[in-house]
Amino acid sequence: MRISLTVNGKRKEADVWEGESLLFALRERLGLPGSKNACEQGECGSCSVLLDGTLVCACLVLAAQADGHQIVTVEGLGREGELHPVQQAFSETGAVQCGFCTPGLIVATADLLARNAAPSDDEIREALSGNLCRCTGYAKIFDAVRLAAER
Ligand code: FES
Ligand code: FES
Repeated sequence: MRISLTVNGKRKEADVWEGESLLFALRERLGLPGSKNACEQGECGSCSVLLDGTLVCACLVLAAQADGHQIVTVEGLGREGELHPVQQAFSETGAVQCGFCTPGLIVATADLLARNAAPSDDEIREALSGNLCRCTGYAKIFDAVRLAAER
């Protein structure tokens, strides 16, 4: 089937099969590999994207369900040649090690700060509870979120 959707502000079309995930369509059909494929079970958050402004795991959404909807991926957060403040903060605080979790954490953090510009540590913990990182121990990720919030 052919789907038509808006990704990072641009109209896109793709031929997908009925059981295909949005994550697969983004990565393999639309050339957007920023959203990572780690568990494909909704457990790790590495595939986090915004669907009509709501944070979702792209591995749990069918590409067909995104037909006619708006998607924002990590590639769509910054402006041309310019990092999004959350990306900048992750970079500056050393919150990135292997980087596999980073795109999902950045999308989830951008979503949090759009809703709550000054989150408490508990609110950060709650908002990022669906995003797993095996490298950093989370301390630097919290530093990054706090820095982005300050700015
Ligand atoms: S790949 Fe989607 S939640 Fe892990
Ligand atoms: S930086 Fe490696 S999983 Fe988070």
